[in-house]
Amino acid sequence: MASYNIESLETLRLQLLERVQASETPRDILRAPEFKDLYSAIATLSPEEKGPYGKAVNELKQAVEAAVEARQDELESGDVVALDVTAPWDINSARPSFLPTNEGSAHPLTTEITNVIDIFTRMGFEAIESRQIDDDYHMFGSLNFPENHPARDGYDTFRTEEGFIPPAHTSTMQNRILQAGKDKLEIGGQIAAISYGRVFRNEDVDATHEHTFHQVEGVFVSKDATLGDMLGTLRSFFEVYYGQTLRIKTQPAYFPFVEPGLEFMIEKPAVLGGKEGEWLEMLGCGMVHPNVLSAAGIDPTKYRGFAWGMGVERLVMLKYGIEDLRHFESAKLNFLRKFA
Ligand code: PHE
Repeated sequence: MASYNIESLETLRLQLLERVQASETPRDILRAPEFKDLYSAIATLSPEEKGPYGKAVNELKQAVEAAVEARQDELESGDVVALDVTAPWDINSARPSFLPTNEGSAHPLTTEITNVIDIFTRMGFEAIESRQIDDDYHMFGSLNFPENHPARDGYDTFRTEEGFIPPAHTSTMQNRILQAGKDKLEIGGQIAAISYGRVFRNEDVDATHEHTFHQVEGVFVSKDATLGDMLGTLRSFFEVYYGQTLRIKTQPAYFPFVEPGLEFMIEKPAVLGGKEGEWLEMLGCGMVHPNVLSAAGIDPTKYRGFAWGMGVERLVMLKYGIEDLRHFESAKLNFLRKFA
């Protein structure tokens, strides 16, 4: 009869598990003579040794039983495909064809964001990429969202364990733009900047909603900026972007960081299949709230500004008649190649 101590049990455990893995009839291994020997050995031990040894034997038995059940399931499930962790294709047959870089092209969103930046920089706006990780102050506090205010719910997004926020809008850049530009105001200049980039929201994904999308935001501040200046700026932008004259209208909307706040609409361009009187809501905008100016150290009794924020996907979908927002992130070549 073989005799065992706790150390040799470990070796035996590994041997048994290996046998289970290799066996076509794994349950037989539960009747292996080794088990009988293990139990008989108990009688030969001193009372102090019996407890720990018995416990170790039980654990071994349980581990082997679990392995036997897993192996049995594997055998019964028929075609067992081993997980290949080395290469995502069969190295014995054809390799996937990789695209050479000279066959690649810019993603349509990249191309269109570049277009938008071009139009605004020609109007005198400076362009700044927005951050993809930010904090509560830039997401809410600096934008006149009171603590625990329900308006925060409209911007529900992710949060890291450390409390950082992948921003739900590009407005997170406003405070930085205003701070960086305030000296220009003092010498009679103005702040004119756009920020563009990826934003994140808690959305139920469908053809018109994604948890990850892109925005372009604008801020303009001067001694005498007016709502009329804003509407003219936006109208010019849309007319250049869609290459035709457009009718516009607004309706009141609420955003804590502007007062008054508006939704800006364009009449759907006829060349894009629009019927007369078919209005499309394109963005949110308004006059920068005095608290937002103050938070950046700008005196709201001396300076006024306007701001807007728009979704890039929506803009591009309308331009090309794209029916599903999810195409953009789908990595489908037949979609992407249409824009090459
Ligand atoms: N940040 C707003 C949104 O994402 C849009 C907006 C920007 C509205 C600037 C007004 C002024 O919904």
